[in-house]
Amino acid sequence: MQDLFSDDLEVMDIKGWKVTNFSADSFNPQEARMALEDKYWPITEVTDRFDRQSVSFQLSKKGCLHRWLKYKEGFSADLVKMLLDDFHLQKGDVVADPFMGSGTTAVVSVLDGYNSLGFDILPMSKIAIQAKTLIYEYDLLELQRMLDEIATLNVPIGYTDKTPEISITRHGYPIATSYELAYYKDYFSKSNYSDNAKILLELCMLNSLERISYSAKDGQYLRWDWRCPKIIEASKARVKAGRKPFVVKLDKGVLPSLKQVLSEELEFVIEDIKSFQENGKKGIDVKCDFIEGSVLFELPKIKADSINAVISSPPYCNRYDYTRTYAMELAYLGVTETGIRKLRQDLLSCTVENKSKTDILKEFYSDIERFDTYERVMDVIRANDALQEINQALKHRSENGEINNKGVLRMVDGYFTELTFLFAELYRVCKPGAHVAFVNDNVRYAGEVIPVDFLTTSLAEQIGFKPIKVYTLRQQKGNSSQQMKKYGRVALRKSITIWKK
Ligand SMILES: C[S@@+](CC[C@H](N)C(=O)[O-])C[C@H]1O[C@@H](n2cnc3c(N)ncnc32)[C@H](O)[C@@H]1O
Repeated sequence: MQDLFSDDLEVMDIKGWKVTNFSADSFNPQEARMALEDKYWPITEVTDRFDRQSVSFQLSKKGCLHRWLKYKEGFSADLVKMLLDDFHLQKGDVVADPFMGSGTTAVVSVLDGYNSLGFDILPMSKIAIQAKTLIYEYDLLELQRMLDEIATLNVPIGYTDKTPEISITRHGYPIATSYELAYYKDYFSKSNYSDNAKILLELCMLNSLERISYSAKDGQYLRWDWRCPKIIEASKARVKAGRKPFVVKLDKGVLPSLKQVLSEELEFVIEDIKSFQENGKKGIDVKCDFIEGSVLFELPKIKADSINAVISSPPYCNRYDYTRTYAMELAYLGVTETGIRKLRQDLLSCTVENKSKTDILKEFYSDIERFDTYERVMDVIRANDALQEINQALKHRSENGEINNKGVLRMVDGYFTELTFLFAELYRVCKPGAHVAFVNDNVRYAGEVIPVDFLTTSLAEQIGFKPIKVYTLRQQKGNSSQQMKKYGRVALRKSITIWKK
């Protein structure tokens, strides 16, 4: 394997990845973004080492263990393995992931003999990581007993408890399935199975929800089958108001029962567990620490100079709302409407609904008596010409009527502000010599290119990190047809940035 840091790497000056026009029709100044492009191009490599599959969930779908939670925002185990090799770590070192998601970094690290530390705000993340990292601990006979019991477990006649709902998930399952979900959850939580078996079953339940429901995850949204009662109700209301009924194309066919899907899920994970356990435990005894909560407020509690490497992927700056995509899972776990709204605000600003966190961060740093950190980070942000240029450019586009949702401006500013706070904390907790890898996508709003890879690298450099390399994938991100029509096509890189303390 090619070493990441060898000096003889050929830097390819490939046209088409380097951006030459950041502002469509040269509507706004772009000197600062151009300067970043020139500054970091020499450490940029258009690579075949990683491809679109390895930075996405596709490889994990096939990979044993990593497929236990369908989490399409995740990256692949192969990508983590390659980076761990590149970083030349010692067994027992600590690998951190500020945005754990389904836990790819944590699971690969632990199985390879490294300690893992990470954060996420979503409760599914905790369940997925706990269940996966217990792989060598499961009692296969107990799991087989559980599987046999599911085959004979029926909802008692007259049972009327339903699985919890919130407004977006209302009537999301056929009524019999809603009873089944509530009954199974209650039955197994009160059962005598071990805690390990219960966690694994909870993960299998979570992974069953989409298949047994009227919903389908589709890009930014949940789509609904035409038979979902709330869709039928809404359509009737439209007709009553003299409008045309909804045309709903989604038909998921016969929806399987929870019993059927849960049995398949459990059977499938038991196969994975068997193959892992037969191959024997690898590595040394290591820990996996998962901290549930926002990394912005949890990382400051971690000891300085305690981390050997970071491999992560933040939410992208693309309006994607995890609390909507995973609404079925969150509602099943009992998160309320208020809880969902709080989680949405806790997200690193990546949706148009996110409010600025600057005041909360100011108060937080003052409370922990580290106000100097707050001031230093804010100075870094103010001194970053490219970020200021982007904020001004979006404001100008908005005044020109090209951005109708002001939330986009707040999101972009909040996104980079919060990431800079994160980088400052990562710098503090990393040991000297530690490497940091972030996977991210560049984006474009109203004809303004935001080079997320180079901009985050420059903010990290201002914090103190040494930029080492920017890998950019041969495959780029597609431009939306709307933007392309109005502003033409530009390179939107998908990159892995590597920095060192
Ligand atoms: C791109 S995903 C990470 C996927 C992960 N690399 C994997 O392989 O599964 C980003 C994650 O960041 C989490 N997240 C967003 N804002 C956060 C915050 N403020 N603190 C901690 N985690 C956050 C999201 O819940 C999501 O799981």
